[in-house]
Amino acid sequence: MDSKPYTFDIKLPGGIPDHYDNHIERRLSSMRGQFLDQKAYSERLAREDTLLYEVYEFKRPEIAGELLHGISIVHPGKVGNEYYMTKGHFHTVLETAEVYYCLQGQGYMVMETPEGEWSVEPLRPGSVLYVPPRWAHRSVNTALDGDLVTFFIYPGDAGHDYGTIESQGYRKLVMDTPAGASIVDNPRWKSPEERHA
Ligand code: F6R
Ligand code: ZN
Repeated sequence: MDSKPYTFDIKLPGGIPDHYDNHIERRLSSMRGQFLDQKAYSERLAREDTLLYEVYEFKRPEIAGELLHGISIVHPGKVGNEYYMTKGHFHTVLETAEVYYCLQGQGYMVMETPEGEWSVEPLRPGSVLYVPPRWAHRSVNTALDGDLVTFFIYPGDAGHDYGTIESQGYRKLVMDTPAGASIVDNPRWKSPEERHA
């Protein structure tokens, strides 16, 4: 792979880089079991396989020393009362961190350790979020009228573990309530003790 320095431009509003190597689209069908309101999920999916978020990636070797980077765009909307969100993941190499820089929109990063410690940090244009090693992360778009656009950067050898979150969910959910966007307990979440019982 070419190892010469390069630049790219991110035009705002929008957030799509002027060039990139890979474009990923994640639709409702890839989020089975993730949204709390499963009836709303199935009804929506029967109508259309909605595009929830997109990622524009720059390809680099997936090795220590490299930094993988790109743009994540979560579209606005809800399934039931739960805002559109990314699948979320742990890094396969748990001891690897990530930095997110919010360029546009508003939302939260929902994070959790394997031990069940949790944190939910706001994302606003200009916020820089440091996700330390060991913390699973999911971005949630709480603005119903525009995209949540973030730039991300993480170690080349991190890898992605989606399965753990797919099976256990997150401890906290971000829901639209009469009081606005609220962080609530996930009734389906199981503590590490319950999981191993
Ligand atoms: C990479 C990373 C982001 C996400 C992106 C989509 O480690 O955290 O690039 O991959 O925001 O979310 P997921 O990967 O959870 O579908
Ligand atoms: Zn990550």
